[in-house]
Amino acid sequence: MNLLPVQQKRSSDPGDSKAMVAARQRFLDAGYYRPIADAVSRAVLSQAKRQSIRDTPFSCLDAGCGEGYYLRQLASAAQDALPLALMGLDISKWAVLAAAKQDSRRGGQQEHSQTPQSQWVVGSNAHLPVQSQTLDSVLCMFGFPVMGEFARVLKPGGMLLQIEAGPSHLRELREIIYPTLKPERSSESKVPEGFIHHHTERLCYSLALEGAEDISDLLAMTPHLYRASAEGRARAGALEALSITVEVRLVQWLRSE
Ligand SMILES: C[S@@+](CC[C@H](N)C(=O)[O-])C[C@H]1O[C@@H](n2cnc3c(N)ncnc32)[C@H](O)[C@@H]1O
Repeated sequence: MNLLPVQQKRSSDPGDSKAMVAARQRFLDAGYYRPIADAVSRAVLSQAKRQSIRDTPFSCLDAGCGEGYYLRQLASAAQDALPLALMGLDISKWAVLAAAKQDSRRGGQQEHSQTPQSQWVVGSNAHLPVQSQTLDSVLCMFGFPVMGEFARVLKPGGMLLQIEAGPSHLRELREIIYPTLKPERSSESKVPEGFIHHHTERLCYSLALEGAEDISDLLAMTPHLYRASAEGRARAGALEALSITVEVRLVQWLRSE
């Protein structure tokens, strides 16, 4: 579904390109970020259990969902245990097409399961096509947070889950593509207006990437692809193996009552 009015587009093809979406899909399908997806599913499902109202599905919007990996993982983790109403939104039509395609394939394979399917929408976090105070949770992962909009669409007590890169995230790749590494930002996030801090979890692990394709997919799915110089990209392109640190913070905010 395309709910991005033309006047809200800053370019004719906004957001991630078809090639970036394909690279992210291959990289995530390989399971490299599975520990992140598991932590996201755990956080959403425990909030859903806390809030559970019989027969009312727990709603979750993934704002900037990319090709939909985290909602698919959440849907399989929930299975029949909890009714979920899932929506993935992204400004890139390529991301939304890829998400919808994979979701319908999954739905076809699991015809008799109660695993929830999601709605996939082209739209912008800056103007979410969602009524005020209607959602139980919003996810914003490696994305473009628009806190005022997230506060508007969440119910009082609803949860915003943000995933942000930590100081060592992909450090080894950054050391190869940049001449010097920038000093890290403070790890403390300011409390956004309309929210209270609920919980912060840090996840850190190492990945061994074998083969040039996985390394180039990782580079292609991050903003480093555009920030790196041609020489930096060439140095990464020449690698056949790379051991890399993944470090993220999962921050849970609750919409104030
Ligand atoms: C780094 S990717 C992360 C994708 C996904 N959350 C993941 O972690 O796999 C950022 C995504 O945000 C999308 N995006 C950029 N600006 C956006 C906006 N204003 N509203 C919604 N999505 C946006 C891009 O198209 C891209 O898919």
